[in-house]
Amino acid sequence: MLRKPILMMIDASHFEVSYVINPWMKPSAWSEDREGYFRAAQAASAALAKALAAAGAEVIRSAGAPGLPDMVFPANAAIVLDRRALVARFRFAERRGEEPLFLKAFEGFKARGLLDVVEQFPQGCFQEGAGDCIWDATRQRFWAGFGQRSNREAIGVTEEFFGAPITPLELISPRFYHLDTCFLPLSGGEVVYYPKAFSHDALAAIRAAVPKDMQIEASDEDAAGFCVNAVNFGRQIVMAQPQDGLRAKLGERGYTVTGVDLSPFIMAGGGAYCMTLRLDRVRETAAMRRAAS
Ligand code: ARG
Repeated sequence: MLRKPILMMIDASHFEVSYVINPWMKPSAWSEDREGYFRAAQAASAALAKALAAAGAEVIRSAGAPGLPDMVFPANAAIVLDRRALVARFRFAERRGEEPLFLKAFEGFKARGLLDVVEQFPQGCFQEGAGDCIWDATRQRFWAGFGQRSNREAIGVTEEFFGAPITPLELISPRFYHLDTCFLPLSGGEVVYYPKAFSHDALAAIRAAVPKDMQIEASDEDAAGFCVNAVNFGRQIVMAQPQDGLRAKLGERGYTVTGVDLSPFIMAGGGAYCMTLRLDRVRETAAMRRAAS
């Protein structure tokens, strides 16, 4: 039997939109109806956890902390592969308080036997976790975003820590500030991506590595709806409420798409992928390839 994917989520009881570190964040809109949005956020977080569990994942919920509202986006906490976690260094002071708390949470996962090694990026080397470093199981490599939140230098550190190949992708739009807002490799080898988020070289790298019939271009609406920011395992995809076009395109390729209303979190610039962190991802070994064929 296949093991369930393990996804970390953070309890949303300290979530709010109280500062601006990306163009989606609107504290003034949030403060017009704090209680209403807060309630909607608790419901949305619960609905996401439920959809992920229904799709076949095991969700581990960890506590958030007062004054750190963006902790609900653990995709930014670390890069995790082969039971090794490399913990983030946040670019903005607003999120730096999350670092020691996530370090502690990952040490806890180590104590529970979920991880073997926990380290952190060196000081001054900004890197915002799996949000900017996405594992592509088909190509057995990372794709790493840089140019907005994460530094290009972080890519060398990541490569050395995991010993895995990485393709750097330069992000050129402040609206698509993490790679996970505009890039989604799927289990079947397709890659959903939003071309306007990438530099010329980055686009060329994607198009060189991914065969044409495996490229799925996201529309402006798909990207602005945070639907590229999706969680995929097996044939399941869980995302913020998609447009019909995207749902149909993915359905035709054999994926089951579950849409969840994540609008309170989109007010902070995040969707389904950012609200999770996959803890059990392992690189394929020769033995696994033999067993699968
Ligand atoms: N407000 C958060 C920030 O700007 C949102 C993070 C969304 N995370 C992501 N992986 N895209 O840092």
